[in-house]
Amino acid sequence: MPSIDELNSLLQEAKTKLAAATDEAGLRQVEIEYLGRQDGKLTQLLRGLADVPLEQRKIIGQRANEVKSALMAFLASRRQALGSSNVPLVDLTQPGTVPSEGHRHLVTQAIEEIAEIFTRIGFQRSYHPEVDWEHYAFAALNMPENHPARDEWETFFIDTEPLGKLGRRVLTPHTSNGQVREMEQQKQPMRMVNIGTCYRRQIDVSHTPMFHQFEGLLIDEGVTMSNLIGTLDYFVKAFYGPERKIRVRPFHFQFTEPSIEIDVSCGVCHGTGLLRQGFGGQACRMCKQGWVELGGAGMVHPNVLKAGKIDPKKYSGFAFGWGVERCFLMKAGLEIPDIRMLYSNDLRFLQQF
Ligand code: PHE
Repeated sequence: MPSIDELNSLLQEAKTKLAAATDEAGLRQVEIEYLGRQDGKLTQLLRGLADVPLEQRKIIGQRANEVKSALMAFLASRRQALGSSNVPLVDLTQPGTVPSEGHRHLVTQAIEEIAEIFTRIGFQRSYHPEVDWEHYAFAALNMPENHPARDEWETFFIDTEPLGKLGRRVLTPHTSNGQVREMEQQKQPMRMVNIGTCYRRQIDVSHTPMFHQFEGLLIDEGVTMSNLIGTLDYFVKAFYGPERKIRVRPFHFQFTEPSIEIDVSCGVCHGTGLLRQGFGGQACRMCKQGWVELGGAGMVHPNVLKAGKIDPKKYSGFAFGWGVERCFLMKAGLEIPDIRMLYSNDLRFLQQF
């Protein structure tokens, strides 16, 4: 049966041995002798505690705990004094562990780059609603109610019936809804770039139902088509590098006159229309014979200027609206064969950028 005296002398004895030990091995030996879980002397004494009458057990138990803490503290101080420790030494000359770091999504990176290029040439970034009235998405853009041109936009309507004179609410099918909204703020001359989310009922290798566009709008006196093409050429060279080619095709939009579409030489197949050898020389699925459409553009239609309360006799302007994801995919060297990969949220894919 353990007693207070026995505990005290055990503490003394162990301390003397620890004081005499000269290295970690010596300390460890004493540690095992007294504190060892199986046969340590203190451990054995504690086991005998069960036989001690209840009223004494509390006092002796308490002293036993004190002895244990005192012994552990003394052991730790001896370890420190001898320069040994159970804790592995930190080698400060080793390279550290670098915490893993995320990065912005590819589309966000592209948006920032696009915004930066346009702000360099005086365009100001503006923000317009993602859920907007039919009026701004269509009517103000020279597409009155029931106009067949509205069909092209594969619109997601939120309301089934018009709620007022601005019509129904829609998920914006293009960033062109920002044109008349911007004009209404009346600050000519203006140069805006509106980068936003758009929605259309479409999904395949080169379309996702949710995507982004950047819309440029410049209004001033005496603006011409050559200003437009010069601006787009500047962007393409800045974004893709001087070696990429663009081509301009005549097109039709209700809100521009004349209208054009701009294509860039395909970055997936390098303008050849065929995938590289590993893909067995198959036709490129992303483009049409080596060219990919980046988006539309044109001179702002007088009716659109009027809808924005701007005098078309005094002012003219150009506008363009291109897809962010599309533009990003056409960067040289990416060779991403399916636009939907951008939104599959597969880290193995995303981490490569
Ligand atoms: N809004 C058109 C589209 O989504 C693009 C466009 C913008 C065309 C501005 C001309 C002028 O395809």
